[in-house]
Amino acid sequence: MPEFRRLLPVIGPAGRGHTGRSAMTCQYRCGNACDHPVPNESENPYFGDIVTTGLSRRGLMRAGALVVGAAGAGLAGAAPAFAEAADPAPELPEVETLTAPAAGGALTFKPIPPNQLDTLVVPNGYDSAVVIRWGDPVVPGAPAFDVHRQTWQAQARQFGYNNDYLTILPLDRHCHRALLVTNHEYTNEELMFPGFTSLDALTVDQLKVAMAAHGLSVLEIERVGDSGQWAPVGRGPRRYNRRITALETAFTVVGPAAGSPLLRTAADPAGKTVIGTLNNCSGGTTPWGTVLSGEENFNQYFVGGDQAPAELKPKLARYGIDVTVRYPSGNRKWDRADSRFDLAVNPNEAHRFGWVVELDPYTPGSRPRKHTALGRFKHEGAATTLSRNGRAVVYLGDDERFDYLYKFVSDEPMDRGHSQRARQHNLRLLESGTLYVAKFDFTSAAEIDGTGKLPADGAFNGRGTWIPLVRGTTSLVPGMSVEEVLVFTRLAGDKVGATKMDRPEDVETNPKTGKVYAVMTNNTQRGTPGKPPADEVNPRNANKHGHIVEITEDGGDNGAESFSWDLLLVCGDPKDPSTYFAGYDKTNVSPISCPDNVAFDGAGNLWIATDGNALGSNDGLFAVPLEGPERGHVKQFLTVPYGAETCGPYVAADGRSVFVAVQHPGEITGATLDKPASTWPDGDFAKPGVAVSWRLDGRPVGT
Ligand code: FEO
Ligand code: CA
Ligand code: CA
Repeated sequence: MPEFRRLLPVIGPAGRGHTGRSAMTCQYRCGNACDHPVPNESENPYFGDIVTTGLSRRGLMRAGALVVGAAGAGLAGAAPAFAEAADPAPELPEVETLTAPAAGGALTFKPIPPNQLDTLVVPNGYDSAVVIRWGDPVVPGAPAFDVHRQTWQAQARQFGYNNDYLTILPLDRHCHRALLVTNHEYTNEELMFPGFTSLDALTVDQLKVAMAAHGLSVLEIERVGDSGQWAPVGRGPRRYNRRITALETAFTVVGPAAGSPLLRTAADPAGKTVIGTLNNCSGGTTPWGTVLSGEENFNQYFVGGDQAPAELKPKLARYGIDVTVRYPSGNRKWDRADSRFDLAVNPNEAHRFGWVVELDPYTPGSRPRKHTALGRFKHEGAATTLSRNGRAVVYLGDDERFDYLYKFVSDEPMDRGHSQRARQHNLRLLESGTLYVAKFDFTSAAEIDGTGKLPADGAFNGRGTWIPLVRGTTSLVPGMSVEEVLVFTRLAGDKVGATKMDRPEDVETNPKTGKVYAVMTNNTQRGTPGKPPADEVNPRNANKHGHIVEITEDGGDNGAESFSWDLLLVCGDPKDPSTYFAGYDKTNVSPISCPDNVAFDGAGNLWIATDGNALGSNDGLFAVPLEGPERGHVKQFLTVPYGAETCGPYVAADGRSVFVAVQHPGEITGATLDKPASTWPDGDFAKPGVAVSWRLDGRPVGT
């Protein structure tokens, strides 16, 4: 049982940002995005326009062939061949060991109540522990963390800051050893450096510490006894352990836009090698055993947009880069450490971020890649499954108000073999394929008034089309080359009439049904003057609490080019009449606000992490069954400490371990390392970290 610690010196919820978030969150997480203009000012019409003008919706679409197939593409039988060129691979299980559906039932844990405690709160009968926290050694031999003597050389070998995506990949057949792979999205310098006064006052070496605290970590972990708890392997060579940073790690650019003049710089005239990765938010795990990571709010790292070439300014602005002043609010000042973040000097450098990156954690020292075929935008995650004919299908959200939902389908099918040749084939799967953007149609358009009132047909629902933007090396967007579509994908989405969504964040596919769950976090500007009003798939104006879209691909084939959809949840306080819990009795569900990252357990239940709870509670992790009479019964499983956001999450298929990434604990306006709003997890100052929760009786969640 967790000990409920006293409420630690909280600075209080005053100074909140634009939804439920602290103003500090707004500055550090997304560079005060809410204060900047919405980047999508395209003429791309919303549905109201289409009704008004009588323009045929069909005429705006590029409806593709309907691919009919059986359901259940899933990951079954997907087995990575873990061969390495120079280092013999261990005998390893199939990836499905920890991800395939297992027998399950109703969720039996007693939901925890909303709270603002500065601790990780889990249900009765469960325990929790920190697996790893900011500053802990990752690379063997890394120095012990000393907050007063931080160096970038040490940080580049220690666990980074603000862990977001996490995944677990097996290292043995018995689920006793595994790899934990995490993203490190961004840094909170106030909470990292003693005596902090301002970003301008940081030394260049401190800025480089922040750069080294970005990126990813790969860490060998092992089960503690026979419990659901896991801990870092503390001995032996730990040859998989590594850090990927924004400071030092070289990435190879691959796919159709690799080498494009749009990606060339003075330091990289070939346009094929980029140092570092930025703002890695959520991600995904592929059936071939690699990890995908989304580069999200990269815009906030660049200055000098006002001095960028005139012809480039509209494109930079479409990606949220301020082109009117040298130092936009929320900027991170990295130009003081590296001039490539100055667009006045290096205008193409911004084009080298905003990609999905792929890391092969099973091959120590392998060079990660940036995939241009998956388009460039503020990538949230990258959920991979297989089409009926075995092709890789990756669902992609662009986390910006009024931006789009995408998917990629590879040209080649995955090779399920275990040979080195199969492995090399699969590692190139994402280099060529078709990139689509989503266009939603509606059944009850005339009834949508922005209040969230359920239409008379009893559902927010309709049909939809995946509009192809690029097939292989052919552009399908008039007036744009393949390179332009892939580097300026948002503009391509504008041109083809994609549906403007309420901040598309994480997407996951249900391993049991193949259905797709796309999370819209919120959009308080929906329906405000000059902005698109509510539509059936974004049914509330001033949407504070977000919603979740359920997509059923035609024929049950994730490779299909058309789909039907409905809303699973319209989030908020269940007493709020604008909320919807899939028709479940709302007197019996947990309040939920601002869904963000999602995951599935082995039984096919959806687990939902929140970011920016606008109902006054700490953020948390919720679970909801999707089938049968329990569909829509949202229950809160845990809350993260004060000021934190719940990320990850990862639920082992055996249901015995639930991992979460606790991101930015104590990120409250006015808090500093010296005056913390949270002291999780060690009682001194706040440290982001990965935690695991498990059931004390050793049984899986929900039995
Ligand atoms: Fe980094 Fe969209 O959350
Ligand atoms: Ca309807
Ligand atoms: Ca997120």
